[in-house]
Amino acid sequence: MGPVPSADPRWRPRLSVPAGLRARYGLSAAQALEAWPLLYQREPELYELLVEGEPLHPRLFRELPLDGARVLEVGAGTGRLTLPAAARAAEVYALEPVAAMREVLRRKLEERGVTNVTLLDGRAEAVPLGDQSVDLAISASAFGADPEHGGEDGLRELLRVTRRPGEVIVLWPDDPNWFMGHGFTHVAFEGELEVRFRDLATAYRCAGIFYSPAVADHFRRTRRPVIPFAALGVNVARDLCRLQIE
Ligand SMILES: C[S@@+](CC[C@H](N)C(=O)[O-])C[C@H]1O[C@@H](n2cnc3c(N)ncnc32)[C@H](O)[C@@H]1O
Repeated sequence: MGPVPSADPRWRPRLSVPAGLRARYGLSAAQALEAWPLLYQREPELYELLVEGEPLHPRLFRELPLDGARVLEVGAGTGRLTLPAAARAAEVYALEPVAAMREVLRRKLEERGVTNVTLLDGRAEAVPLGDQSVDLAISASAFGADPEHGGEDGLRELLRVTRRPGEVIVLWPDDPNWFMGHGFTHVAFEGELEVRFRDLATAYRCAGIFYSPAVADHFRRTRRPVIPFAALGVNVARDLCRLQIE
């Protein structure tokens, strides 16, 4: 599973907001961008059902210099990256602006007895940490070019709180070209990934809200809650952008 260059056609741009999610909150096309934040605020458990079976490529974790590190994670959500990061890091500062998402993550940390994660309320654009206070800043499917997702102000903040030498690594970026324009390297890893929902009912439910009718048809045909990641019509979670700072 070697790295492949970012121009690799396997990277696809972000799809528009899923129609099922928009319909769920009665949003017009013009309001579509509100759909994901509404999901995070109103139904964090539904988000968790979606992502619990949606793996990040295992090679991505191996690329992160987490061992013994002090780490800032931006947009921690319900902890898909936080938990594996905490297993190796000395300390993880999990920054997440949505209280309902932080609460799901807080419960998971408590249930698993994880004590080296500090939950922080805040956004990438104003990180509540001191200058050069972490070795590494990471994010999965959260930080990006859009000012709502951090943008220029957020990147300035990540660079401020990361010590020298240190690193900023963004997993599964929506917009690798923006990162490359800011000096990051983009790497995608080969290998197939499967999305595996907890059961068939969850697979149908998530397909109806987040994916196309073709995905629901796949579950109906196979009678299994499993689908190749590549068949979902979204960018497969196998790439990262990284910037070493001296
Ligand atoms: C798609 S979820 C990803 C969550 C988690 N990292 C994962 O991989 O499942 C995006 C998360 O980023 C958070 N977020 C959105 N804008 C943000 C910002 N400007 N700064 C920090 N977090 C943000 C959202 O509240 C949400 O929890």
